[in-house]
Amino acid sequence: MSIENYLGDGKKLIDKVLAEYLPGKEAYPETIHQSMHYSLLAGGKRLRPILVMAAAEAVGADRRTVLPFAVAVEFIHTYTLVHDDLPALDDDSLRRGKPTNHKVFGEAIAVLTGDALLTQAFIIMTQSALMESIPAANVLRAANEISRAMGSGGVIGGQVVDIQSEGKEIDPETLEYIHIYKTGFFFKACIRSGAILGRAESKQLAALSEFGSHIGLAFQIVDDILDIVGDKEKLGKDVGSDIDKHKATYPALYGLEASKKQAEKLVEEGIASLQDFDERADPLREIARFFIQRTF
Ligand code: IPE
Ligand code: IPE
Ligand code: MG
Ligand code: MG
Ligand code: MG
Repeated sequence: MSIENYLGDGKKLIDKVLAEYLPGKEAYPETIHQSMHYSLLAGGKRLRPILVMAAAEAVGADRRTVLPFAVAVEFIHTYTLVHDDLPALDDDSLRRGKPTNHKVFGEAIAVLTGDALLTQAFIIMTQSALMESIPAANVLRAANEISRAMGSGGVIGGQVVDIQSEGKEIDPETLEYIHIYKTGFFFKACIRSGAILGRAESKQLAALSEFGSHIGLAFQIVDDILDIVGDKEKLGKDVGSDIDKHKATYPALYGLEASKKQAEKLVEEGIASLQDFDERADPLREIARFFIQRTF
């Protein structure tokens, strides 16, 4: 199966079930549920849930057993986007090809929508511990991975330094910190949790962690590049947003070409860490390549 078909198939599977994990749009108070539906079902590549499933498959598990957990990480991802777009953070107007959540529902509801999506994710994750297909201890470990990746020692820490670095000249170490923390940690945690749910051995988990750290950083470098050379229609978000806000980005510090090379090198190194895996890890390898070839 080509990577396009694999990603399309994974996205279709996630899109099909997402709404089942949400209260209906008509549930009181309607505004919050309409807002959650709006941002969650607006589209998106669904890469994080696809990686949860692909990591589980790479260690020999059936992706359907990790589907609820995969759905939960998409809830969390969507929350980060809703908050990231707020006027107090990146102040963006377009997301997933539609006006950003606060443009439609207002800032207060956008803040609460993020809160509600994050909380819903924990409901889904903890509920999936009650399913018989995966031992509860593994679900607990996987949920712990995701929680640690998302907190102030992870994504939030990265977002804080990202915001505090606007308009400043920062050193390479700080830039790397921002990118690893705000984006890399979440990708790594998705891969690790998929593997944990799939009952990976510790050696496999270590290799998948290496893979995840490398491709997670590469993803954010490419996101920075696409903010300059990308196409608004394809991306579904405004280009030039980072330059407007004088954001700390790889192209700003190293230039476009050197940034592209760094992302390519990271993906190659990431793929190399999967050397002991068989063809069941091919989707992971292909997703890694997609991370640097993507135009959206
Ligand atoms: C955007 O993530 C946020 C970053 C970490 C750069 P994606 O590019 O995966 O966004 P969607 O889910 O496809 O909209
Ligand atoms: C987003 O980084 C990271 C998180 C949402 C945690 P960006 O701010 O670069 O993402 P986009 O470009 O708005 O999607
Ligand atoms: Mg941001
Ligand atoms: Mg942003
Ligand atoms: Mg960006």
